[in-house]
Amino acid sequence: MKILETKRLILRHLELGDLDNLFALYRDPEMRQYFPDGTLTYAETKEQIEWFLNGHPRHPELGLWATIEKETDQFIGRCGLLPWTIDGRSEVEVAYMIDKAYWGQGLGTEAAQAILDYGFKRLNLTRLICLIDDENAASIRVAEKIGMVFERAGEDEHGPFHLYSQAMA
Ligand SMILES: CC(C)(COP(=O)(O)OP(=O)(O)OC[C@H]1O[C@@H](n2cnc3c(N)ncnc32)[C@H](O)[C@@H]1OP(=O)(O)O)[C@@H](O)C(=O)NCCC(=O)NCCS
Repeated sequence: MKILETKRLILRHLELGDLDNLFALYRDPEMRQYFPDGTLTYAETKEQIEWFLNGHPRHPELGLWATIEKETDQFIGRCGLLPWTIDGRSEVEVAYMIDKAYWGQGLGTEAAQAILDYGFKRLNLTRLICLIDDENAASIRVAEKIGMVFERAGEDEHGPFHLYSQAMA
């Protein structure tokens, strides 16, 4: 099911047919450099797709979505909105990952901006966050470009993170 569309991208629910393409990203240490759990196995990638097939099971309007380049119909990443509880507070994170073959074309920012707008305007969320490793310069730049502001450093069972946030305008 299509979630949203931008000039160059379509975001839709993940499908089992995305497994090989998603695993190509998740097995790559460079793509997963700033993720506390590192690279994922084929089985773990399959589990994640199954978890998100119809949106997040407990919040179907949220989830990780396949990110497809319209011109080529290629799977080029997975982006979306993820629910977390951080220090007792319910939060929704704008999440993005674009295949490194496509970096530097503004696609990460294009996806993140559209997801942010979707969260605020379509889902009526009042606050969105990004959780970022403080050395992930590209991700920090994307967050800042869509209007996120550094709020605080934190730490959970996965390790330290920097929390960026934005309230609905
Ligand atoms: C973060 C990510 C989605 C950015 O994707 P992208 O399509 O290359 O992003 P954009 O082309 O929109 O670039 C966004 C900005 O980041 C900057 N940037 C890109 N790589 C950078 C780097 N290594 N260091 C500093 N800035 C960088 C770009 O110059 C651009 O800023 P500008 O417009 O001011 O020049 C991509 O690097 C990625 O998927 N990384 C691996 C997964 C990941 O870490 N996701 C985030 C988890 S919190």
